[in-house]
Amino acid sequence: MKSKKPEIIISLKSITKIFPLEVGGAQQVLFDITFDVHAGEFVAIMGPSGSGKSTCMNIIGALDTPSGGTYELYGRNITGLSADELAVIRNQHIGFVFQQFNLLAKRTVLDNVMLPLMYRGLPMSERVRRAREMLKRVGLEKFENYLPTQLSGGMKQRVAIARALAGDPKLILADEPTGALDSKMGNEILKFFKQLNHDMGITIVMITHEFDIAKYASRLIHIRDGHINYDGPMPKSDRNL
Ligand SMILES: Nc1ncnc2c1ncn2[C@@H]1O[C@H](COP(=O)(O)OP(=O)(O)O)[C@@H](O)[C@H]1O
Ligand SMILES: [Mg+2]
Repeated sequence: MKSKKPEIIISLKSITKIFPLEVGGAQQVLFDITFDVHAGEFVAIMGPSGSGKSTCMNIIGALDTPSGGTYELYGRNITGLSADELAVIRNQHIGFVFQQFNLLAKRTVLDNVMLPLMYRGLPMSERVRRAREMLKRVGLEKFENYLPTQLSGGMKQRVAIARALAGDPKLILADEPTGALDSKMGNEILKFFKQLNHDMGITIVMITHEFDIAKYASRLIHIRDGHINYDGPMPKSDRNL
């Protein structure tokens, strides 16, 4: 039997992004960004601060739209969709992990993890069951009634990962997921990502400005001033980027 190449999950073609400036004029932040991500990849998008990484991630995550080019997610061109349609796509297909965790401070850990399941039409008992299963997966099953403020940074990020996984996405987008953590907690989160990618085949796109973090991924896309200047296997060092 012929081996099949994994499905293309993300396909960016000549993506540009231009922000209008308040003082007049405009700033172009992304230039001709073109790459595909296949199912099962673990990709790091790396670049210095201000190089356009979050702008790129916001487009990939359907949180923002490009100024030009085409973006296909799971083979579907999503460039022209309405805000409501994009919200449905995000909820069904993507798990998000952010630097500042973005947890609801006044809701329990369990409520936070259940959040993406709210729009799925699942019965309450099923949502609770699933959220508990995800908390167990990140080792926080004993903390379901805590508030996020009662947890350490590393634990908060694990709650955010449980929330990202609750909707059973095939794709996780993480923007500087260890940026607010010390290196020990950061490494734990990165090892967990590696495990999710390896054991469950979840595709991960992670943004970082640090090579020591990027190197947990197997492919590196390096951005400088809104241009891709490297896209390939993870190099041994970032000396030549
Ligand atoms: N909503 C916005 N409006 C105007 N400029 C923006 C906006 N978002 C980002 N930028 C600008 O785009 C550039 C890249 O930002 P960003 O994508 O956040 O970089 P990175 O994540 O690599 O640090 C910066 O110069 C930033 O000021
Ligand atoms: Mg950023």
